[in-house]
Amino acid sequence: MTSKKPNLHVNIGRIKISNPVMTASGTFGYAREYEAFVDLKRLGAIVVKGLSLEPSKGNPPQRIVETPCGMLNAIGLENVGLKAFKEEKVPFLKKLNTPVFVNIYGKSIAEYAELAARLEDIDVVSGIEVNISCPNVKSGGMAFGAYPESTAEIVKAIRKRTKRPMMVKLSPNVTDITEIAKAAEGEGADSISLINTITGMAINIETRRPRLANITGGLSGPAIKPVALRMVWQVAQTVKIPVIGIGGIMTAKDALEFLIAGATAVQVGTANFINPHVTLDIIDGIEAFLVERNIADIADIIGTLEI
Ligand SMILES: Cc1cc2nc3c(=O)[nH]c(=O)nc-3n(C[C@H](O)[C@H](O)[C@H](O)COP(=O)(O)O)c2cc1C
Repeated sequence: MTSKKPNLHVNIGRIKISNPVMTASGTFGYAREYEAFVDLKRLGAIVVKGLSLEPSKGNPPQRIVETPCGMLNAIGLENVGLKAFKEEKVPFLKKLNTPVFVNIYGKSIAEYAELAARLEDIDVVSGIEVNISCPNVKSGGMAFGAYPESTAEIVKAIRKRTKRPMMVKLSPNVTDITEIAKAAEGEGADSISLINTITGMAINIETRRPRLANITGGLSGPAIKPVALRMVWQVAQTVKIPVIGIGGIMTAKDALEFLIAGATAVQVGTANFINPHVTLDIIDGIEAFLVERNIADIADIIGTLEI
């Protein structure tokens, strides 16, 4: 058995990252929040909280409910807005030398495209992650990512305004996720990340009211892992661009399942709330798995599912 360190580098389109473990948007703030727990330089990449052109307060409380093996959230994309991101968050991120993806959203296609264009001037932004799971106000509350046509339209509009690597983050709340993935790839997405949260709800039986002020929320955590894994496997077989697996990843074993299913990298979300050091534990666990089996390169794991 060799004790040589295996190669953990992977390529997310044009971006080479030191290992396949990234943080999931909305669960890792703007990275500084985790400075005391995580050597941020060791992360494959950091995805920051969903950003919009203007600041947003998000939804009123209650915004989070714990559920069996997971949680529901209806934060409503609270964020500092582009100006404060540039002034207050970018200087810290610059010091890290870790690739940063900015997760973006808007109320219209024009807003998404404008934000993508304005982020192009910021050096620390390695790429954008486009969250197409949020409501499209102009079309009466449907998410852009609900249909292949609207997915194609928004990806095309953003592609016109930025040359930066574009990861498109898909919603699982659709009939056939492979059609949505194909639409994003067809209009110039560099990679696909999935899944965002699954819409759910919880009710207080004493008051007979929804537990979330928003009534419904997004389910995340281990409860969604089998669904996420199935969707990642389906999408990885459908598109040629890299797929990033997200959903209920708590351990290195979970992450390895996604890699074997065809994900080039993974994002870790809800697990950070339980163990703020979990991302590094997962990196170490993946490395130990490879060393124990004498596998020299993470590439020899990716997409190796045998049916
Ligand atoms: C509190 C919270 C906030 C989130 N905010 C965002 C967000 O701003 N943008 C986004 O694309 N996804 C957001 N997500 C979704 C996560 O990035 C991730 O896709 C999802 O939680 C599934 O992964 P997990 O089971 O590892 O948490 C959020 C999730 C949680 C729990």
